[in-house]
Amino acid sequence: MTVPPPWAMLAELTHACPLHCPYCSNPVELVGRARELDTAGWTRVMAEAGALGIVHAHLSGGEPLLRRDLDLIVAAAEAAGIYTQLVTSGVGLDRARLAELAGAGLRSVQLSVQDATAETSDHLAGARSFAAKRRAAALVREAGLPFGLNVVLHRHNLDSLDEIIALAVEWGADRVELANTQFYGWALRNRAALLPTRDQLRRAERTLDAWRARLPGTPELVWVVPDYFEGVPKPCMGGWGAVSLTVAPDGSVLPCPGAYTLPGLTFPNVRERGLRWIWEESGAFHAYRGTAWMGGPCSGCPRREDDFGGCRCQAYAITGDAARTDPACALSPDHHLIRRLTDDTPPDDRTPLVYRRPRRGRA
Ligand code: SF4
Ligand code: FES
Repeated sequence: MTVPPPWAMLAELTHACPLHCPYCSNPVELVGRARELDTAGWTRVMAEAGALGIVHAHLSGGEPLLRRDLDLIVAAAEAAGIYTQLVTSGVGLDRARLAELAGAGLRSVQLSVQDATAETSDHLAGARSFAAKRRAAALVREAGLPFGLNVVLHRHNLDSLDEIIALAVEWGADRVELANTQFYGWALRNRAALLPTRDQLRRAERTLDAWRARLPGTPELVWVVPDYFEGVPKPCMGGWGAVSLTVAPDGSVLPCPGAYTLPGLTFPNVRERGLRWIWEESGAFHAYRGTAWMGGPCSGCPRREDDFGGCRCQAYAITGDAARTDPACALSPDHHLIRRLTDDTPPDDRTPLVYRRPRRGRA
């Protein structure tokens, strides 16, 4: 069977980060800095990715600015014909660094912010960072790079959506990703503290509609749906092994950033295998590719080529079986497990947030 090539890559350059967001999708067991791929390793990854057909790379983390060789990695991507977007907290970005990165070929920046005020944003980040973000936003604007703002939404900031969008307008974002929390990694660990209520979501959607009616089209407001509440699964990653791959800081290659949780899969590493072999031949990438692996109800469902049965990592996290229909789907026999979380469990605001931190001595 011919495997069509991927077009996108998530390059997790490091798991190290100055922030400690409790909704981080990085694994609870973070990769330590000593295990990270070196410059030559990432240079080879970029060359192989370009040869494989990848045209877009998200340079992410953790905080990618903590890589002193980031400009060399960007240059390697540029040489391979890959469009690069820096996904950053903004901490550590100054004018000289941004000029260096733009000179190496960086094409756009996506900046995260946690909430609309310094106090609440810093509280959610677990670190003082709002002022650095404000400065970073101004620098990206000044440099003329396409500028996206990313805000992860949850119970603690959904009610501030109006102020958050106003902030994005003030900072001059071209695009705002209003990303309702997806529950993987640290976010899954903090799910009880982060899950919003249906009322909060309804109010937020009304706020969003009002802004969309008022704005001339910029910034573009992108609403990442809270799939726990919609009864409709997301087409996770555009399908398993279909359009994108993730390279973890240690060189492991995964079909999605959450896949490390799935049992029975061995994830190949770019230190041992070429990216083309990994994409076309490895068992991990074939495990849930296409539709042949599906059981009921997905196998007989007319939407199976549209949503690919939802998310394998979510199916595993909730049912213990990665091959089951994503319980976010209202047709799933396990959908009651989601409803129990969203409708039958009253939110308890005493549930503490567990901030993302490396285990001592690991990162
Ligand atoms: Fe998608 Fe499967 Fe639900 Fe059909 S049954 S909508 S294919 S997740
Ligand atoms: Fe792994 Fe959805 S996050 S398949």
